[in-house]
Amino acid sequence: MQKIIITGGAGYIGSHTAVALQQAGFQVVVIDNLSNSSVLSLDGVARITGTHPLFAQVDCTDLESMRAVFEQHSDSVGVIHFAALKAVGESVEQPLLYYRNNLDGLINVLTCMSEFKIPNIVFSSSATVYGVPSVLPVTEETPLQPATSPYGQTKVIGESIIRDTVAANAGLNATLLRYFNPIGAHPSGLIGERPNGVPNNLMPYITQTAAGIRPILRVFGNDYDTPDGYCVRDYIDVNDLAMAHVAALRHMLDGATGVSTFNLGTGRGYSVMELINAFRDATGVDVPYEIVARRAGDVPAIWADASLAGRVLNWHADTPLSETLSSAWLWQQNSEK
Ligand code: NAD
Ligand code: UFG
Repeated sequence: MQKIIITGGAGYIGSHTAVALQQAGFQVVVIDNLSNSSVLSLDGVARITGTHPLFAQVDCTDLESMRAVFEQHSDSVGVIHFAALKAVGESVEQPLLYYRNNLDGLINVLTCMSEFKIPNIVFSSSATVYGVPSVLPVTEETPLQPATSPYGQTKVIGESIIRDTVAANAGLNATLLRYFNPIGAHPSGLIGERPNGVPNNLMPYITQTAAGIRPILRVFGNDYDTPDGYCVRDYIDVNDLAMAHVAALRHMLDGATGVSTFNLGTGRGYSVMELINAFRDATGVDVPYEIVARRAGDVPAIWADASLAGRVLNWHADTPLSETLSSAWLWQQNSEK
């Protein structure tokens, strides 16, 4: 069995990827400091797959502890590096926390990979690296723009750190995955997103409002230069996203060298209002909302050209939106129990 280390594996995308990897026959070692997650998600992975991932509660910024885990699992064939802080607003208030956590963590992962000769890394990047795109949809060739938050900067800089490190190390290969907007949960309802406190993101805000935990959803702006005036995003099912990590790893294990970069989205944009209506159609639940002012820093519209991942990785996001929204709702109901 090939062994994969996943940092941040107790988190939202990491736990779904742990499921996909285990179901694809990999052995999974999770490193997580549980700063934004709980071991319950790994119990959920075990209930879905029948196997509990190995787990080390370690902070990626602690190089000595990271070395100890990598030494123990030096037979790993790759690392998927999810571990990062991701709250855009918090990153504006506490930039050094974000730079230290996200960049020191990445540098330590690359250091350990080099010391223990682990050849393949998959990195969680983001559509945020495109800033406000002038042409839609965005391809991997679309020029990157200065990020609008320290969080976004950690992704732009993280990609550069990886490119430079691969250029200097013939034995290291990398895949940079630029996620668009991941939503939904595992169809079992056993794992999903666990936002801390009041959600910043639209999907958990919709499900918490539907559940009555929040009184009303605030829709940020209806005067954008988009077909219906609302912001447009490319919402990708988290299980499809998880499968892309398996495909990216296999691509490198099959011999792809150097650095590859892929957009991971559906190729279709939905406005905020379309998503609210699609949620009602999928679940029968009407979410109360009010239109309020634009949120500072929001990109009016962005969606992916994900055809490169289709051609090279043979990966497509094919879960229907209605299934994704139903899974998000099932998870919301289960997570309250
Ligand atoms: P998440 O917060 O659910 O998962 C991140 C995990 O990393 C958490 O379990 C957290 O405890 C852990 N972690 C954070 N800092 C750590 C550290 N120093 N050491 C060890 N563990 C640490 O977030 P997610 O949505 O699953 O995001 C995973 C990755 O994908 C992140 O890198 C994020 O920036 C990126 N990403 C997410 C989105 C999104 O909308 N969810 C979009 C684009 C990119
Ligand atoms: N929105 C609302 N009300 C809310 C929350 C969001 O109307 O309560 C709107 C936003 O204005 C935006 C859309 O819903 O138009 C999506 O917002 P999210 O916060 O869910 O997602 P973003 O596209 O703003 O940000 C996400 C990730 C970031 C990442 C970015 C680009 O959260 O980490 O995508 O990849 F940087």
